[in-house]
Amino acid sequence: MIRLKCYIFLLAFILVLTLFPADIPAVITGQCSECHTMHNSQNGAAMVSYVFGAETTDAKDYLLVGTCLGCHAQGGPSMVANVNGINTPQVYHTDATGDLAGGNFAYILGTKGSGASDAKGHNVVDFGNLEDTLSSPPGHHDPDGIGVNITCAGIAGCHGVRKSGSGIYGNHHRNVDGKLTTADQAYNSYRFLTGVKGLEDADWEKTISVSDHNEYYGANTPMTYSGNCNICHNPSGIRPSNNTMSGFCGTCHRNFHVTDQIGGTSSPFTRHPTDVILPGSGEYASYNGAGNPYSLVARIARTTVPDVPGDTVNPGTDVVMCLSCHAAHATDNADMMRWNYKSSTLSTAISGCNVCHTAKN
Ligand code: HEC
Ligand code: HEC
Ligand code: HEC
Ligand code: HEC
Ligand code: HEC
Ligand code: HEC
Repeated sequence: MIRLKCYIFLLAFILVLTLFPADIPAVITGQCSECHTMHNSQNGAAMVSYVFGAETTDAKDYLLVGTCLGCHAQGGPSMVANVNGINTPQVYHTDATGDLAGGNFAYILGTKGSGASDAKGHNVVDFGNLEDTLSSPPGHHDPDGIGVNITCAGIAGCHGVRKSGSGIYGNHHRNVDGKLTTADQAYNSYRFLTGVKGLEDADWEKTISVSDHNEYYGANTPMTYSGNCNICHNPSGIRPSNNTMSGFCGTCHRNFHVTDQIGGTSSPFTRHPTDVILPGSGEYASYNGAGNPYSLVARIARTTVPDVPGDTVNPGTDVVMCLSCHAAHATDNADMMRWNYKSSTLSTAISGCNVCHTAKN
């Protein structure tokens, strides 16, 4: 009888898996107490909780044991940290073996890499180190005067609901993983970037290879502005109307993405294009050499989110995006570049460019 029940349960489980494969949320697992504290008290003493760079005993919003940076920026030696027994992706760490997909804010503060520099990434205010050179996002209108005070989440941030008074609240427990093509809420969007589609790698690219990586969503034409505020403004928060990663970056760096500022949708361009197709002819046809293997340096976006990561690139179909050249958080290079474009050694400086521009070496 018990065995029969087991079988029925197993069958039901397999059925659920088959029917709703894309919708299985990466529901946070573990004891509530690993992330929450009911009264911020244990044996009469306040609990130790995590904030950036230290431990405190203050009670936190949502009864949590840490702030965003407390859980995600512990500064330890591993890019995925064990926080109270739970695998938690780290955006600030000293792991010498690499960084997760977004990069590593530690390069800005100099705790990893070749030395501190604001130009190496997005100076998220929560880290307490404000940008010294820039005074607003290059290429943007800034009616709110948010300037460079960019945060992890909320109206002045990237993750969650980008609206006054909103943020990440209500998303961790509903988080959907894997292939994300609905993208109408933060929890069913790529990495809580509301409106962005994509395929999430299960370990945030801790292990990475040409066949084991995130896939980014792109379009065959960038967003067009012409006074249309709705390409970014949505009643439920700021988001890219074209659902692409480049459109997302363009919500703050508008002029670097929209057609009227980059010179249209075909050559000659006036700013480097994104969300345009890698031509299937000329130098682009030999993207990354014979057989067009996927390059982990100069990455491309797909106009259809694939079911599994692809190990090849298709000139004529795939597109160039902001993340072909930049990382999202920070890198060890100036301007958050994926390679050292400032190098005085030409081959190093163009090492990413000529993955696509194969005739320019
Ligand atoms: C791995 C960490 C983690 C664990 C384990 C966890 N939570 Fe949470 N929980 C969070 C975070 C982070 C937030 C706040 C951010 C958010 O809502 O996205 C949150 C928010 C909440 C909220 C408010 C938002 C919402 O979605 O309703 C409730 C209620 C909640 N948790 C209950 C629980 C309960 C009950 C358990 C145990 C069954 C639990 N949590 C276990 C991390 C965790
Ligand atoms: C109590 C610890 C805790 C806190 C506080 C917390 N997180 Fe998380 N977060 C986690 C864990 C654990 C995961 C990985 C599990 C998962 O993917 O759902 C995660 C996953 C994420 C992801 C990746 C989601 C994905 O699609 O893979 C993002 C982005 C994120 N958190 C952002 C934030 C931001 C922004 C804040 C603050 C507003 C925050 N988190 C606060 C524990 C926390
Ligand atoms: C929420 C608004 C916002 C979004 C979204 C955004 N940025 Fe930025 N970005 C800024 C601000 C503000 C600055 C200037 C302050 C700084 O660099 O810290 C900036 C600076 C930069 C810089 C120059 C860094 C430096 O310090 O010189 C680059 C490169 C950049 N962003 C690329 C991107 C890319 C790529 C994306 C998409 C993955 C993106 N941005 C998305 C707000 C944003
Ligand atoms: C390319 C994307 C984009 C376009 C197009 C755009 N905005 Fe914005 N807007 C933003 C972002 C991002 C913010 C929040 C950050 C900031 O204020 O710097 C914002 C903030 C605002 C704010 C401040 C209030 C709020 O919601 O935060 C106003 C008002 C505003 N925009 C008006 C407009 C109007 C009017 C238009 C059309 C003429 C327009 N915007 C077009 C991206 C855009
Ligand atoms: C082909 C590679 C490439 C692509 C694609 C690209 N960038 Fe850049 N970006 C660069 C380089 C290189 C620099 C350094 C300055 C320079 O050489 O123009 C830079 C600089 C920047 C800066 C700093 C500008 C300043 O005033 O200091 C921002 C912001 C930026 N990029 C954002 C973006 C955004 C947003 C996108 C997508 C819409 C994007 N980039 C796409 C290569 C690229
Ligand atoms: C992921 C592929 C990719 C990478 C990497 C890349 N580009 Fe491009 N680039 C393109 C595409 C696609 C076009 C538009 C081609 C077309 O439609 O004619 C383009 C256009 C250009 C143009 C304008 C050509 C014109 O006809 O107006 C220049 C200049 C350029 N890229 C320089 C660079 C430099 C410099 C780098 C390195 C910092 C770089 N690119 C990196 C794909 C890439």
